[in-house]
Amino acid sequence: ISEHIETIRQADEIIFIGCGSAFLAAQVASRAMEDIGRVKSRAINAGELQYQNPVITERTVIVAISQSGETADTLGCIKVLKDKAAAIIGIVNVVGSNISKEVDSGIYIRAGREISVASSKALTNMIINCLMMAYLVGKDKISHLEYETFIQEIQLLPSLLEKVLSKEQNIQSLARQFATYENMLCIGRGSLETIALEGALKIKELSYIHAEGYSAAELKHGPLALVCPDILTIALVGNNLLGQKMLGNIKEVITRDGPILSVMSTASEEIENISTKTFHVPNMTNIYLQGILYLGFLQ
Ligand code: F6R
Repeated sequence: ISEHIETIRQADEIIFIGCGSAFLAAQVASRAMEDIGRVKSRAINAGELQYQNPVITERTVIVAISQSGETADTLGCIKVLKDKAAAIIGIVNVVGSNISKEVDSGIYIRAGREISVASSKALTNMIINCLMMAYLVGKDKISHLEYETFIQEIQLLPSLLEKVLSKEQNIQSLARQFATYENMLCIGRGSLETIALEGALKIKELSYIHAEGYSAAELKHGPLALVCPDILTIALVGNNLLGQKMLGNIKEVITRDGPILSVMSTASEEIENISTKTFHVPNMTNIYLQGILYLGFLQ
């Protein structure tokens, strides 16, 4: 994408598109691009975009995310927007796929063949590649330390993910304990909201259990009405200010006698004491990379 990096930096807006898990990667990407790259960004589900009337200027950049590179809705958007946008960038896994051929430039995530529905390799690498793009765009706008920390933590990520997966027996026992619930709620804040949405998607697709993902900030504005002893809430507690706010959300669930599984990256005696169960993932400075560890657990 080096030939388009200036176009991305100068863009009026970057619109990240995709479907399903790729749309969730798009949501993390748009948040990171605004946060780090400081370019106005949003994510739109490709199945809807074709039928909307979004403002696309000659300085709008479209980033299409797809594992297969063949998803009809994503491909359809690219065809419709091709002559309108400044550039269409692809974040694609399958080399030589139709999407990879239609875009102006892009990144092959090279996550290997997708074998299971969890799509862990593809989604993880979509997020990482979008983050790398955000850091490339925003390199001059952030501190050297922040950039260095990101590079160091990206290198640490495989071993930290291994650490999460090495707790397989613990994860299995939690899954067995909660498998009888017919309804689940996954909540998180900031970029962990999107990870909660992906968690709920995977619980639906892989466990055939009804699950909804929500921003924990929205809990009291509707979904809390459903919380009761029969609904499991999975709370993703980050290590930042938003993570601290989760304590209030966890208490809201407990007030309604809802069982709660808190997934945390830093120790909190209070959350430990009031949660039905807890699971710990290693702590990371970079909240977006940190999300991948929560993802590993949820998937
Ligand atoms: C989720 C899943 C689907 C795909 C979606 C997009 O586990 O498999 O939601 O993410 O159909 O597919 P790609 O990435 O191939 O465009």
